[in-house]
Amino acid sequence: MKVIRDVASLRAELETLGRVGLVPTMGGLHRGHLACIEALRPSGLPRAVSIFVNPLQFGPGEDWQRYPRSTEADLALCEAAGVAFVFVPEAGEFYPPGFQTRVLPGPLASRWEGACRPAHFEGVLTVLARLFGLIRPTLVAFGEKDFQQLRVVQHLAEDLALGCKVLGVETVRDDDGVALSTRNAYLTPSTRPLARRLVEALAAARATFVQGVRAVNAVQNQVDEVLGAQAGGAALHDGHGASSAIERLDYAAIVDPETLEPWPEDRPLRADARCLIAAYVGGARLIDNAALGLGPDLEAFAVTSAHS
Ligand code: PAJ
Repeated sequence: MKVIRDVASLRAELETLGRVGLVPTMGGLHRGHLACIEALRPSGLPRAVSIFVNPLQFGPGEDWQRYPRSTEADLALCEAAGVAFVFVPEAGEFYPPGFQTRVLPGPLASRWEGACRPAHFEGVLTVLARLFGLIRPTLVAFGEKDFQQLRVVQHLAEDLALGCKVLGVETVRDDDGVALSTRNAYLTPSTRPLARRLVEALAAARATFVQGVRAVNAVQNQVDEVLGAQAGGAALHDGHGASSAIERLDYAAIVDPETLEPWPEDRPLRADARCLIAAYVGGARLIDNAALGLGPDLEAFAVTSAHS
């Protein structure tokens, strides 16, 4: 496996390899990233991974500086996964002096992550446009874990005719149901149970839908109840000093998977309606999502007893 740090060597490597499949990442690799790498295997293409903590997609005061970096371990995981090369540029190499263009996302990016993190998707699309331009992948894999990102990237590839197919990869979860995320490194033994609240809410939404409920408000109520009600709700304490409520709910919404608009109150829910959640837990901003009636089973993560 080659480790490539500059654009000139990248070009040389691609001359030899030809077209590749690509998994763009910010490092801190876990089984979620590996599932994306695995998803490219059936294509038979040489597989490439990029590791770049893209400053453009972080807002002021966000965690760009402290974002977990573990390049040596990441490279070992890529090697074991059979990756052909890893592109690990420094910021000054990736964005050369004079770099000034930005890619403006469309309406799919305006709500949810786009509303909570202004300029985030502009940063994501800009880094990906340059990355796709440099590497010219014919296939790229993105996780459903970042569902809005996946949808916005599908549009990027289509709208700008970038010549690559975008594969969506099912969310990989830890044994306790928490979606794998590099940011889970911010969690502690006392905040980890709160992180579980997100998947519990998704499991509640799934259970309600599976029981036959088709009214969006009824499903939304179940989600809100598990999440400890409305954004900014007062935190309760469990007597061990740990807060038993999430600190801040950015959003918990049931949306149309195509438009990402809130599911209309007067339309019966469909199995592909998606519940999207973003919340702060112990200083970590976590996101998760699931379709109401499709995808991996969430039953094991449903709340069985009331939270104290
Ligand atoms: P990063 O958070 O490192 O994620 C890289 C890819 O791994 C994304 O497509 C993401 O959806 C996928 N992924 C993360 N956790 C996953 C999980 N638990 N299950 C399945 N897939 C998962 O997303 C980014 O980086 C950046 O925004 C990037 C696209 C690289 C642009 O900078």
